[in-house]
Amino acid sequence: MSRKMPDQRPARRDFLASFGVLAAAGLVPEGIWSQQGGLPTRADAARKFVSASGDFAFAPGLAYLQTGSLGPTPRPVMERAIAGWKELERNPTLYGYGALERAMDDVRAKAARFIGCLTEELVLTRCTTEGMNWVAQGLTLAAGERVLTTDQEHPGGRACWDYVARRQGVVLDIVVIPPAENSAAAIIDRFAKAMTPHTRVLSFSHLLSSTGLRMPVAELSALARSRGCLAVVDGAQAVGGVAVDVKALGCHVYATSGHKWLLAPPGTGLLYLSDELGKTVDPIGLQSGRQAYSASSGVCSIPSVLGLDAAIDYITAIGIAKVEQHNLALGARLHAALRGVPQVEVMSAAPGPLASPQLTYRLPVAIDSNTLHIRLREKHNIQVKVVPTNWLNGHRISTHLFNTEQEVDRLVSALKQELA
Ligand SMILES: Cc1ncc(COP(=O)(O)O)c(C=O)c1O
Repeated sequence: MSRKMPDQRPARRDFLASFGVLAAAGLVPEGIWSQQGGLPTRADAARKFVSASGDFAFAPGLAYLQTGSLGPTPRPVMERAIAGWKELERNPTLYGYGALERAMDDVRAKAARFIGCLTEELVLTRCTTEGMNWVAQGLTLAAGERVLTTDQEHPGGRACWDYVARRQGVVLDIVVIPPAENSAAAIIDRFAKAMTPHTRVLSFSHLLSSTGLRMPVAELSALARSRGCLAVVDGAQAVGGVAVDVKALGCHVYATSGHKWLLAPPGTGLLYLSDELGKTVDPIGLQSGRQAYSASSGVCSIPSVLGLDAAIDYITAIGIAKVEQHNLALGARLHAALRGVPQVEVMSAAPGPLASPQLTYRLPVAIDSNTLHIRLREKHNIQVKVVPTNWLNGHRISTHLFNTEQEVDRLVSALKQELA
C-alpha cells in the first residue's frame, strides 16, 4: 500500500512551540529546559542527559529501578500538567472545550509522529489496558474463531481476550515462551505452528512484562499478514524506553501507556489503529471519532494529556535512540555483574537483539522474593519489582534514562550482601 508517511523528522518545531508556551507562562522549571540565554538546543538537552536525575523528585538517594510498573514524571512534565490544570480552572468549560481541547489534539498529532503513524491513526487512551480492551471489544469475532497469544502476557493485554472468549465463544490458543528463551526463530516457529485456518488475531507484547524479552514483532506481524490475520501488539513496556516505529514493525494495532517509560502523567496512553483496518476495529468509545474529546469517549484528564505533550518533548529533546542506548548499556552492565552474585540466575536475554531495558533474575525457592524486595528498599534504598510468582520467583529491574551505573552497581552490591 502506498501512502504519504508522516514527517519523521525530530519534532523540534513542537518542542520549541511548547517551550515557548511554558516560557511565556513563566513556567520553565529547573532542569532540562532551563538553559541560559534562550531556547535549549538538542546539544544542550543531550549534555543535560548525563545528569537528568536532577529533573526527578525521587526520595533522597532512592535508586528507582521499577519504571516498568510506573514511571516517574520529570519536573517539566509535572509543571506542564499543573499549568494546564490552572489554565483549565480559569473557566473550565471555556478552556476545556476550547483552547485546551485543541491543545490535546495537538498532543495527539505529536504522539502520532513520535511512534511513526498518522494523526488519524492514533487515539489517546488512559492506558495500554484500555487500548487493548477497545480493540478486543471492537472486533467482530465469531464463536469458533481463534486468537493466538502467549503464556507471558500481562493481564492488561490478556483480560480482553479472556472476555471475548467467555462472551463470544472465541477460542484462545497459547504459545509458550520459556523464561530463558533466547531464540527469535524458535518463537516465530511456535507461532506459525500454532496458527489454524480459524486464527484471526495474533496478540503479543513487544517487550515481555515477565523477562523483558524483545519479541520479534516485525516477523510476527509479517506472519500474521501472510495468513490474513491481525497483529495486535501490547507495547506497554516499550514506548519511551526504546525506539518504536509502528509502521516499520508492520503491526495493525499497537497499544501503550504514557505513565511507564514515556514518563508522562498517570492515566495516559496511546493506541495505534492502522488506517488499513477501516472499521474492522469499531468499539463503542470510537463511534464519534478518534479526537481527544468525543461524544462517545467523553472527557479525559486534560492536565495529564498536556503533561504527555511535555513528556514526548522531554524524550525527544534527548533523542530516543540515545535513551535506548543508555538503557541497554545499563542492562548489559547489570547482566554481566549479576554473574558474580550467588544464587541469582538471570532469565533475560543477553545483550543482543532480544534484550531490552528490563532484566529479570530468578532466586532459589528458599528465598522469598517479596521479603528480599522489601529489604532492598528499606535497607539499601533500592526499588525493584517482584515478578508475579506464577511466572517465576525473582525480581525485574528496569533501567531508564535517569538511572546511573552507580545505581546498578549499588543493586549488585546489595544483592551480594543479602545473598552471601
Ligand atoms: C505488557 C504489559 N501490558 C499491559 C500492562 C498494563 O499497563 P496499564 O496499567 O498502563 O494499562 C503492563 C503493565 O505493567 C504490561 O507490562
